[in-house]
Order: sequence, then structure tokens, then C-alpha cells
Amino acid sequence: MKIAIMGFGTVGTGVEEILYKKRKDLLKNNFDIEIERILIKNKNKDRNPHDKTLIFTDNFDEILNSSVDTVIDVTSNLEETYERIVKLIKAKKNIVTANKAVVSKYFEVLNELARENEVYFSYEASVAGAIPIIHPLMEEVFFNDISEISGILNGTSNYILSKMEREGSSYKDVLKEAQDLGYAEADPTADVGGFDAMRKIRILSSLIYNAKIKEDEIFTFGINNVKKSDFDFAKDLGYSIRLLGKSSLCDGKINISVMPTFLKDDFFAKTFEGTNAIKVLGENFKKYELKGPGAGKLETADAIMRDLLRILAKREIKTFYNAENSYPVENNLEKKYYLRCEKVSDELKNLISSEKILDENHHIITKKLSLKKLLHAIENLDDVFLAEIEEEI
Ligand code: HSE
Repeated sequence: MKIAIMGFGTVGTGVEEILYKKRKDLLKNNFDIEIERILIKNKNKDRNPHDKTLIFTDNFDEILNSSVDTVIDVTSNLEETYERIVKLIKAKKNIVTANKAVVSKYFEVLNELARENEVYFSYEASVAGAIPIIHPLMEEVFFNDISEISGILNGTSNYILSKMEREGSSYKDVLKEAQDLGYAEADPTADVGGFDAMRKIRILSSLIYNAKIKEDEIFTFGINNVKKSDFDFAKDLGYSIRLLGKSSLCDGKINISVMPTFLKDDFFAKTFEGTNAIKVLGENFKKYELKGPGAGKLETADAIMRDLLRILAKREIKTFYNAENSYPVENNLEKKYYLRCEKVSDELKNLISSEKILDENHHIITKKLSLKKLLHAIENLDDVFLAEIEEEI
């Protein structure tokens, strides 16, 4: 099979490395995969692929008009990559992508287009790096009712939160460490603002409910204003803080959010550094939990390789996703929340269950209430830190 790769950054070099090092093993099983072209932006940049005969091009049309069957997309660009993927699918090329921004924003369109053109649209690498989650879920939906999924889906935020919690480090220092380790996006706002996790929970949730969930319907609250005092407060009550993406389908309504969460549950609370963790609730298996590296060169390339092999072996499921169900997003489940704020509005006063004043900040535990109601009560307050409380206090 002839393939092309768009992008030759961290993950692209990982794919080339695996294909080169494992060529003999792959050939033994008739997986003859040849990289015909690699699309890059700057042809003059020094590159050091394992296969010195590789051809690099900065001309997308060379890929579009080539005879390759499958194109691997490891770019991080949104609109340009989307337009290219559309052209490639129309030219009957299978797509394997790690680009979660494109997959999330254009999930319906790309699945539909792939179906129309009878090609594969595979995106295992777009969520949770090496953890196999997309394909297991794709199979489950045919015979199981998945009612809830939650996860630590952003390695950068988890790195920051777990380091601040364990080492008392400052937010700024640990963000720099996460960037140096290559977890963070080029613009880390997507990581710490919760948008990267929002895209991932949007992909997973659309898939399991076979429903269209719009990105802007997902309540997204990041970790960019978390403080040491939040960890101290949580710790006194026996909680850890992690950024969770979460969705559930209950009585025909979807609750979906990304926000910091106070947790006691060991599975999430004991997830450290860049590790991702995912919990799935389903009718047949009740619950399963998966944990592993959510980013990295070979880690993400590994998920791409699995997609590639499934296409080659024709074991890939041609997309079934058609947004057939329409469930309203309501965020109506009642939970307790933690809030840190400088001032308290009259509306908020009525929702408080307990409160402590530390360093001139109100540290509040709310009564059980819906997220909708809480957001209404705090909409005019500045500099609020908000977390869902996973269990009853
Ligand atoms: N920036 C992402 C993260 C990379 O921190 O998890 C993997 O999607």
C-alpha cells in the first residue's frame, strides 16, 4: 500500500520511525507499506528521517494527484487541513488523522463524506494518544448501550495539576515543564483552557450516542486560574483535583462538560503527569477503565499504525456514524460544586452549603444543584475558580 504523510513534526517522525524499523516484521505479514511522499511546509529545513530516500514536497497537489491509497494527517492546522482532507476524500483516499481540532469541528461532515466516497476516515490517534478507545467504542455501539464516559483527556493539564498537588510547584513553572516535554499544544491555551479536552469529549460522545453535539454546547472550564489554595482546600477534605471531560446520556438528555473536578476515586486521583485515563459505563460490561500515555511521538504514532493496519487488513469499520439521534444538551444533573471567588452575589448566597474565607477569598461548597443554575448565579462574578465535586461530602 502506498501512503503519504502530511506533516513531519513529532508524530510524523514517529510514524516514519516505526514503519522503517518494523518493515521486515510488517512484510512478513504482507503489510507492505511504502511512504510515497511527505508533505511539509519548509523544504529547506534540515530533516533526519530513517529512510534517506524519502521524498519531501511542499506541494499538496503532488499528494492529491498521486496514486496513494491512504493519507496520514499529522498536522495541527485546522481550516487548511480540513480543506485538504475534503479534497483527498473526494479523490477516494482513506484518511488516518491525529488532528483532533479537525476531527472535532468537522466530525459530521467528514464522516458523511467518507461514507459517500466509500473510504475510511480513521481518527484513533486524535483522542488519548496510545490508549485504544475509538475503535473499541465503535464496536461497542453496535450491541451495547454506553451511558457515560469520563476521562482525563489532556496530558498538559494533568501534568500541571498533579505536579502542583504533589510538589506544591507554581502553575507557571509546571506549564513550562509540560511544554518542554512536548505535551502542550503550540498554543497551550487549548490545553489549559480545556478546549483540547473539549474536542476529545466531543468526539467520544458524538460517537457513543450517535448524535451531533456542538462544540459550543459543551461547558468548558479550564485550569488557568487554579491556585495553591484550591489544592489546600481540596486536600483538607481528602480530594485531588483533575481536569475531567465527561458526558452522560440520561432520560434522553445529554450532560456534557470539561471542568476541574474534586475526586477521591483512585482511578482518576492517582493519574499523574501526562497520563490519560478513561472510564466508560455500558449496559453489558457495567464499567471499564483504561489508562496510558495520551501524547508523545511513538505513543501517538502507535495509534496511527493500528488504524493503518486495520485499513490494510480491511478490518476497519467504515463509518456508521450518521448523527441519527438528537438529544438535547441540558446539563441538568444536580451536583455539588466548589467555588473560589472574591465576592459572593445574593443569588449565590442562597446556594452555599458551607464556606471558608482564606486569603480574602471565599472557598465555597454549594448545595446540590444543576450546572445551569450555578452558572447563572456566578455569571457576573470575576476571577472565579470552579470545580465539580465528584462525591458527596
Ligand atoms: N496537547 C495534548 C495534551 C497532546 O496535552 O494532551 C495530545 O493530544
